[in-house]
Amino acid sequence: MPQLWQGRSSKAVDDRVNDFNSSIRFDARMLKQDIEGSLAHCAMLAEQGILTEADSDAIRAGLNGILADVERGTLAIDPAAEDVHTFVEQTLTARIGAAGKRLHTGRSRNDQVAVDLRLWLREACAGLQSQLTQLCEALCAQAEQGAGFVMPGYTHLQRAQPVTFGHQLMAYAWMLLRDKGRLRDAVRRMDAECPLGSGALAGTTYPLDRFATAAALGFDAPCQNSIDGVSDRDFCIEIAAAIAVCMMHLSRLSEEIILFCSWEFKFVELDDAFTTGSSIMPQKKNPDVTELIRGKTGRVYGDLSGLLTMMKGLPLAYDKDMQEDKEAIFDAVDTLALCLKTLTPMLKTMTPLPANMRAAAARGFINATDCADYLTKKGLPFRDAYKCTGTLVASCIERGKTLEELTLDEFKAFSPLFEQDIYAAIDLTHCCEGRQSYGGPARASVLRQVEAVREKLKEA
Ligand code: ARG
Repeated sequence: MPQLWQGRSSKAVDDRVNDFNSSIRFDARMLKQDIEGSLAHCAMLAEQGILTEADSDAIRAGLNGILADVERGTLAIDPAAEDVHTFVEQTLTARIGAAGKRLHTGRSRNDQVAVDLRLWLREACAGLQSQLTQLCEALCAQAEQGAGFVMPGYTHLQRAQPVTFGHQLMAYAWMLLRDKGRLRDAVRRMDAECPLGSGALAGTTYPLDRFATAAALGFDAPCQNSIDGVSDRDFCIEIAAAIAVCMMHLSRLSEEIILFCSWEFKFVELDDAFTTGSSIMPQKKNPDVTELIRGKTGRVYGDLSGLLTMMKGLPLAYDKDMQEDKEAIFDAVDTLALCLKTLTPMLKTMTPLPANMRAAAARGFINATDCADYLTKKGLPFRDAYKCTGTLVASCIERGKTLEELTLDEFKAFSPLFEQDIYAAIDLTHCCEGRQSYGGPARASVLRQVEAVREKLKEA
């Protein structure tokens, strides 16, 4: 397939340069969007009297035919084409003759690729958003079931205060809901302005109706500066950033699952279908899925930092460096999609082990704050109550006891304020349920969160 730009050169371009220059092996996936953009451009050209109706009819039929043939597998993408835009235009011309050569009137590949990529990302982000919805739903279902499972909550990975398994899981649901919102915001901004009609960089002398193409392609309006139109890749960077933040959340969730399914914790059991074995250690059941998600997070950060670095020194307007945007953003999208596809069913099939959670909660003095609060409510200033409980814990550790194993006399030795009701005050379920503050770990709060998240998931 010859280049679109033959004519200026005195000799054929070296094969190695052609191979190096070509983007067809990765931009072919924008074929549908390239045709969509071309159809809108062609319809507008005809409407404006720049193309005849006959030419525009032939182009429209030709473009639709190419898309249909590629989709049904009867037309192969030519790997020798320079890029997807070249492939479509040249196939069109081969099929319909001279009219095909008129399609590029008033257009450049610079504004064309800027539109194609936006259209591609719009669809891709909608897919990611619906996958995020499914993951949030899986978290809600597990949280609903585990709303009353008492487990230790951690700070510094040290047992800190009692929470519920449902509360811990819902923390992730809220993060993922924000991730969904970040994608939605980025897409909204991307969809606000259409670059088509910017031409190579300086607009065109043809009487284009840029408002018509912008509307036909689902944008709010045409962009107001043609140089900005072809040189802006903020949308790629914003989407990559939203994806990177989301991967960071998935990685933290993965890390906790890795910990929680280990023998050290054993708070959850992963379904055998979502674990792998070891070739040498017959007892092993490995959480490879979550480890891979944690690992792939670094790769997505690489995509984002590659995009930022690629753009940082570019003079306006289009530079070929920008062809590198696609592999990075495609990889970020593909990686997140792949992770979500596997993580969601893994979470759905995960079995919580509430007895183990509770046993862990019983050791580690996670009710010490509640003990101090008990004394405070009996009139002791909190700082004194804190100190008294601290010495009580130290003496328990020395004697190998938990707080609830102490007799009332042993309690009273530390403070006369202790009465029989101390046992209820430091009971773990009571400690969780007593945390009635809005957004707390109590069962009712978890169920309220589940409701709220489900409600928000219904929003676009
Ligand atoms: N394949 C190119 C890209 O992805 C399309 C735009 C080419 N424009 C140009 N002036 N060479 O960036």
